[in-house]
Amino acid sequence: MMKKWWMESVGYQIYPKSFFDANHDGIGDLPGILSKLGYLHELGVNLIWICPFYDSPMDDNGYDVRDFFKVADIFGDIEHIKAIIREAHQLGIRVILDLVLNHTSDEHPWFIESRKSKDNPYRDFYIWHEGRIKHGKKIEPTNWASFFGGSCWRHDPQTDSYYMKIFSDKMPDLNWENPEVRQAMADVAKWWLDLGVDGFRIDAVSHLQRDAFVDSTLTDDRYVLDWKKFSNLPKVHDHVRWLHNEVFEPYDCLTIGETGGEASIEEGLRYASFDAKALSMVFNFDHNWCNNLWSIDDPKDLKTDVIRLKQVFAQWQEAFKGQGWLPLNWLNHDQPRLMSHYGSRAHFKASGKMLATALHMMRGTPFIYQGEEIGMINHPFENLQDFRDIASINHYHELMRKHPDADLAYIIKKVVMTSRDHPRTPVHWDDTRHAGFSTVRPWIDVTPNHDLINIADQMQDQDSIWHHYRKLIQLRLTSDLRDVIIHGTFEMIDVAHPSLYVYKRHHDHDQLLVVNNFTAEHVIWRLPADRVTAVIIQNYPDVDIRHQTLYLRPYESIVFKTEAHT
Ligand code: GLC
Ligand code: CA
Repeated sequence: MMKKWWMESVGYQIYPKSFFDANHDGIGDLPGILSKLGYLHELGVNLIWICPFYDSPMDDNGYDVRDFFKVADIFGDIEHIKAIIREAHQLGIRVILDLVLNHTSDEHPWFIESRKSKDNPYRDFYIWHEGRIKHGKKIEPTNWASFFGGSCWRHDPQTDSYYMKIFSDKMPDLNWENPEVRQAMADVAKWWLDLGVDGFRIDAVSHLQRDAFVDSTLTDDRYVLDWKKFSNLPKVHDHVRWLHNEVFEPYDCLTIGETGGEASIEEGLRYASFDAKALSMVFNFDHNWCNNLWSIDDPKDLKTDVIRLKQVFAQWQEAFKGQGWLPLNWLNHDQPRLMSHYGSRAHFKASGKMLATALHMMRGTPFIYQGEEIGMINHPFENLQDFRDIASINHYHELMRKHPDADLAYIIKKVVMTSRDHPRTPVHWDDTRHAGFSTVRPWIDVTPNHDLINIADQMQDQDSIWHHYRKLIQLRLTSDLRDVIIHGTFEMIDVAHPSLYVYKRHHDHDQLLVVNNFTAEHVIWRLPADRVTAVIIQNYPDVDIRHQTLYLRPYESIVFKTEAHT
């Protein structure tokens, strides 16, 4: 059996701008992270992923990198990150950073050079193309849309050509066909590994190759968001394997690729099976789309497709069995808050704990997104001015263009539903003004329920969601059930049950049965023949079993230790 340190880890994702503001200018920073390492240690995690803090004009909060080797002034300086690495390591916490390979900022020196002239030595660092003439007018080389709205091409007057940018206008895409680009990005990775980081979350890794520049016929919109044109194409795997040989393998570091653009399970394995010699794991998003969030007009109509959700989990678990390893996460900085996505306001505590158990008991490496450990919820945005995320702001303008007669409140509501700003509001440290995040008004508004949901209160309350997460982490990392939780096999049972997600874990003589009610209904369920020997973790004060039958309450979740009858 393959064993790596990152299999025996629980991760925590930090979005620096919103984590903790140590110098009280309203923006989270690296000294803020440093001062909270003790907190993370107390929660029990042994791995942190820190989102970009590199020098950047912050068009996309730092994913638009201007200098890969410099810390942005608002976040601190290089000494702070060195201190974070050192002190985290002393606490037994590994550190991974975001490695942004697909693009740079348009203010990066390479791009400033590249756009100067067609024969500039840096021209080929980016993807340039001439426009075409349609109805006597110059237009983009293709009709492809960008993820953040509008065309994925941007006209640049300096050479009267177009550069590709699948995210914002200020994020030109690097040309991975160019070996100099590959080498330069490998050098970036090595530089940070030499500084002591333990690996990377690799941003947008699936987009490192573009298809032939031919119009998409997927829809007849002016700009068509056709991910297949720049996602998971064959050469991406070559690039990733090259990076593996050049950097990841020699440093034996952890790499988790973000595979957007609908990477299938087969593609997931091509990136991250043990044999692929490419990445350690991939973050897929299939489980993020298992409700009707993207098609409804009102969050009140939100409904989870439980069957689909459990199938998605089980299919990935099944495919990676013995062949690879998966990260387990409910959300990140681009997704709605978990409690507003699959949780329940009416059954707040029970659903928060159930969702945690359902995820943390699977095979893989769990990642907690900051604030998830207390059940933070979405923010009630009301005006365009309240948004900070470039994708949300672009979404607003696009909807206004498409529906010029629509009611403004309707447009805002639509943008709010899927905005990436929800997970980016400041972490609720306590119930004081600005949630203990800062002493001044933060760069993005605090969600106005920090008096009800905050870390200080939940750390005091033994029955809180926070303590439930802590217990799950302890079970996985330090309890005598460690081996079965980390390495045990996974088997979903009662596959067709419409409300319950039930699975078994098995390793040597240990066997666990994990039962999760994903609904607000009471459910009566007949236990399998195995003998229950203990209850390991639960989210109600007691467990109601009578005659081998389980009486489950809304969002109830129980992990049993069981023994097969001999
Ligand atoms: C990834 C990041 C997202 C960012 C994008 C461009 O999807 O998670 O936040 O906007 O890449 O770097
Ligand atoms: Ca600050």
